Amino acid sequence: MAERGHWGSKLGFVLAAAGSAVGLGNIWKFPYITGENGGGAFVLVYLACIALVGLPVMIAEILLGRASQKSPVGAFRALGGGFWVVFGGLGVLGGFVILSYYSVVAGWAMHYTYLAISGRIVDLGPDGVVPLFGELFASNGLNLFWHTVFMALTIGVVWGGVNKGIERWARILMPVLGGLMLILLVNGLTLGGFGQALDFVFGFRTENLTAAGVLEALGHAFFTLSLGMGAMLTYGSYLSRDDDIVSSGITISVLDTAIALTACMVLFPIIFTYGMQPGEGPGLVFVSIPIALAQMPAGTFFAIVFFALLVFAALTSAISLLEVVTSYLIDEKGWLRHKATVWAGVIIALIGVPSALSGGTALFGDGFAAVFGRNWFDTFDYLATNWMLPLGGLGIALFTAWKVDDAIRRGEFQHGARLALFYRGWLLLLKFVVPVGIVLVFLHAIGVI
Ligand code: TRP
Repeated sequence: MAERGHWGSKLGFVLAAAGSAVGLGNIWKFPYITGENGGGAFVLVYLACIALVGLPVMIAEILLGRASQKSPVGAFRALGGGFWVVFGGLGVLGGFVILSYYSVVAGWAMHYTYLAISGRIVDLGPDGVVPLFGELFASNGLNLFWHTVFMALTIGVVWGGVNKGIERWARILMPVLGGLMLILLVNGLTLGGFGQALDFVFGFRTENLTAAGVLEALGHAFFTLSLGMGAMLTYGSYLSRDDDIVSSGITISVLDTAIALTACMVLFPIIFTYGMQPGEGPGLVFVSIPIALAQMPAGTFFAIVFFALLVFAALTSAISLLEVVTSYLIDEKGWLRHKATVWAGVIIALIGVPSALSGGTALFGDGFAAVFGRNWFDTFDYLATNWMLPLGGLGIALFTAWKVDDAIRRGEFQHGARLALFYRGWLLLLKFVVPVGIVLVFLHAIGVI
């Protein structure tokens, strides 16, 4: 069996993990749920969820990976065994489910990048771009085409391995992503709507806050930090002994949060300047923003920058999802990386076909929704974000806090960590606060609260 891959440096790991965290969740979803929940207070609750629930679980995942030097299934077996191993299996399943539909949304971003490069967004004008998204959503051909292209790219990166594939691409794409974000932020600063956007995102208005909003913030904290299915665990398993888990976990969480907030300060100034509503939902990025870009000076340039950024963010996240499955096949089945990558990638691409066809066929779209209440695509998203990730997160928190040997846990936490004092606080959050928070999300999901 080939030797297990390792990161070339601590920076490489932090960039790859931040690449996993920063994705469609930050740039597409966070701004629109902030808009739907009225901004301000929701953002504050979200920040609390990141600090009190997300960060402790992030540290736990990295710790389990580094301590075991294994991907999820092997990690649970090595550090505790028994029925806990089920949570490892759930993580691998999560990789299949999430990437299969994530790739479809990433495909939309690719299609819009193409529309931007071809100059179509500005040429069509604000009225002309409105039907574009509906047309894309309903087109089987376009969805299948871009889904396939995106999965091929993802397979191409993971094929190269931890150091020469994932880390290398993170080192290129993450600085580019930061640069593109900065260009867009400067543009936002010059727009008349910036002040209004600032007030919307950071002005504290409790009257807009609902219980559903609080629980949505908590659920999103898991998704945006790539927690609950062993992606951070797998990346942690490629860390060497002398890296500091706590400070890495903090850096990754801070970067992810900074990008999500910046995305708001990129998008909302545009929305307010062009007289649109912030609470339009999922169409924010694919409908409202193109309407504004079509009227903006240098609209084609900013459209290319924005949608390329969205594609890059999605790609570095998708590779972490594929890596969980690939790494499972390598560790547990003894497969070689190339074989594992291609098989996992192709099967996930096939599982994604019904998602790609959810807008254009009755079988997976309206007809499916008539029977199951949601189309295939929405069903997968719902199952993953509302059930699999919180359940996985609960398993990871309980396992780390109540099952893993304290000597191992303490040693890993404190090894190289300047923040050893926080050990007790971290453990308390993991033992009580995180499980209670997650159980509340479940109770909400089944309508009890
Ligand atoms: N965090 C990514 C985003 O915000 C998505 C993602 C990548 C993810 N890997 C994950 C979500 C693992 C949950 C689990 O878009």
